[in-house]
Amino acid sequence: MPGLLVFVTGGTGALGGHAVPALVSAGHQVSALARSRVKADWLRRQGATPVEASLFDPGALAEALRWVARIPRRASSGIAP
Ligand SMILES: NC(=O)c1ccc[n+]([C@@H]2O[C@H](COP(=O)([O-])OP(=O)(O)OC[C@H]3O[C@@H](n4cnc5c(N)ncnc54)[C@H](OP(=O)(O)O)[C@@H]3O)[C@@H](O)[C@H]2O)c1
Repeated sequence: MPGLLVFVTGGTGALGGHAVPALVSAGHQVSALARSRVKADWLRRQGATPVEASLFDPGALAEALRWVARIPRRASSGIAP
């Protein structure tokens, strides 16, 4: 089902880092959380749109998720290298 608007939490992690380019390659419009400029730049290079929002800020998340259709959950509470 190509052409979905997909928001990926944990899109810069080990699993999400594979999911984001795969979703873009499949023709979806992908957005993902980015917690640093480096991660935001990486998402842009994959063809995704970075969103700067905290998982712990319900208002910012609600705004970021307003337009999406699917949420593959890939975030963890761990710290990625
Ligand atoms: N890797 C596996 O083989 C595997 C297998 C089974 C299940 N899982 C589960 O799948 C999930 C993801 O695993 P992973 O290996 O991809 O983990 P990971 O490499 O540690 O990536 C975690 C992702 O979550 C983000 N994140 C962490 N805390 C956050 C916060 N407070 N707000 C916003 N984003 C936050 C990280 O962002 P930053 O990049 O900014 O740090 C990163 O994108 C975990 O729940 C893990 O237990 C993993």
